[in-house]
Amino acid sequence: MMKKKLQETFNNQINEELYSAYLYAAMRAYFESLNLQGFANWMRIQVEEELFHARKFVNFLFERGAEVKFKAIKEPQTQWGSPLEAFEAAYEHECHISDCINKLSTLAVNEDDHASRVFLEWFVTEQVEEEANADAMVQNLRLVKDAPGGLFMLNREAGQRVVSPTIVADITGAPTGG
Ligand code: FEO
Repeated sequence: MMKKKLQETFNNQINEELYSAYLYAAMRAYFESLNLQGFANWMRIQVEEELFHARKFVNFLFERGAEVKFKAIKEPQTQWGSPLEAFEAAYEHECHISDCINKLSTLAVNEDDHASRVFLEWFVTEQVEEEANADAMVQNLRLVKDAPGGLFMLNREAGQRVVSPTIVADITGAPTGG
């Protein structure tokens, strides 16, 4: 059985992941309003990533016989000064989530809950990718600065991003072949 403090912190993390989905949905709306549909697509996929993360936490708590609590999700920011500012905010947010996951891992170790520690390893690795994905967008946007041609190209590239097969399988229940 998971200790109460750990259960509570896991539940807080579910809220963090759902807030992440909400924040990226707001960023998608911001890009839609600018008619930058490639960046909007990038954010749409990110929403799916976050919902997948939240479901992973929920399922783990169910498996452990722990209580799942859905807390109020705070209102996200809805406007940014530029596409670069929005992606900078996304990168900073991912750094915050990495910090949450690290603290949760430390707590799992301190509570001697090794099932939780092993479960959280997936998220530790995932956060490296999450930070890198957002940071790559920030770096590219800094490179093109305000050049319309560069922005057009990056927007088009972001439009190519697709939902990962793992997430599709999680949503549809389709076999992954693994
Ligand atoms: Fe769930 Fe983007 O971290």
